[in-house]
Amino acid sequence: MWIFIIILGFIFLGALLYWLLIITEGVYLGRRAVVWMYDLTAHKYDGIKEYDADAEELFVIRPLRYYLHHIPAPYILDVATGTGRLPWFLLQQPTFHGRVVGLDASAKMLSQAAAKLDGFHARAALVQGTAVPLPFPDNTFHAVTCLESLEFFPSDEAALRDMIRVLQPGGLLLVTRRRGWEAKTFFGRYHDTTQFEQLLQEMGCEQVETKAWQVDYDQVFARKPSTA
Ligand SMILES: C[S@@+](CC[C@H](N)C(=O)[O-])C[C@H]1O[C@@H](n2cnc3c(N)ncnc32)[C@H](O)[C@@H]1O
Repeated sequence: MWIFIIILGFIFLGALLYWLLIITEGVYLGRRAVVWMYDLTAHKYDGIKEYDADAEELFVIRPLRYYLHHIPAPYILDVATGTGRLPWFLLQQPTFHGRVVGLDASAKMLSQAAAKLDGFHARAALVQGTAVPLPFPDNTFHAVTCLESLEFFPSDEAALRDMIRVLQPGGLLLVTRRRGWEAKTFFGRYHDTTQFEQLLQEMGCEQVETKAWQVDYDQVFARKPSTA
């Protein structure tokens, strides 16, 4: 009998640790735990993700270019830029003439980004900081992006509000909404499509549009009103 209880205890503990550290990546342990885990794994992050250049161009860069086509040199903020995925793929485009600021709380993730973005000089800037508060004035950027990260912030709502604050009136917001069964284990933090779109609308966003993207993520596009 005791052996059965002990085995069950180990199974429960293993499942709890898997959920706390792997599925939810430390978010229930606080921001420092999340960032510490990214610092630990930064050197292998790109190897694990294996981003496909064609897929990035088709599903991330092309939509951004489309939404920003009327701006000759867009100024973009990528929140939780990690190893610089979005700046890297964007700045490689010969038709993109803008500048990108990548912000992240993990120094090790940023040092991977810095190595990749070295050749882009003043067109790529990296800032170590947290998603809330963003260290930028109101109404600064033509677009603010945040890929695969919102669910790991202490408050996704506070982060969204601050992203909207630093957007110029009429500016574009591109964020991702976690989807799939794992997303539903982010207890107290999960939003379905309707809830997420409503959240952005309540924050004043217009033209909120969700597009299915990956198994785990939707892309959500929205505009800050021009009159804001
Ligand atoms: C899954 S990675 C995504 C990186 C990048 N956006 C991408 O798509 O490859 C999540 C990133 O969020 C960063 N992060 C987590 N919590 C943060 C916070 N509170 N403020 C800023 N960055 C944070 C981590 O350091 C990590 O680089």
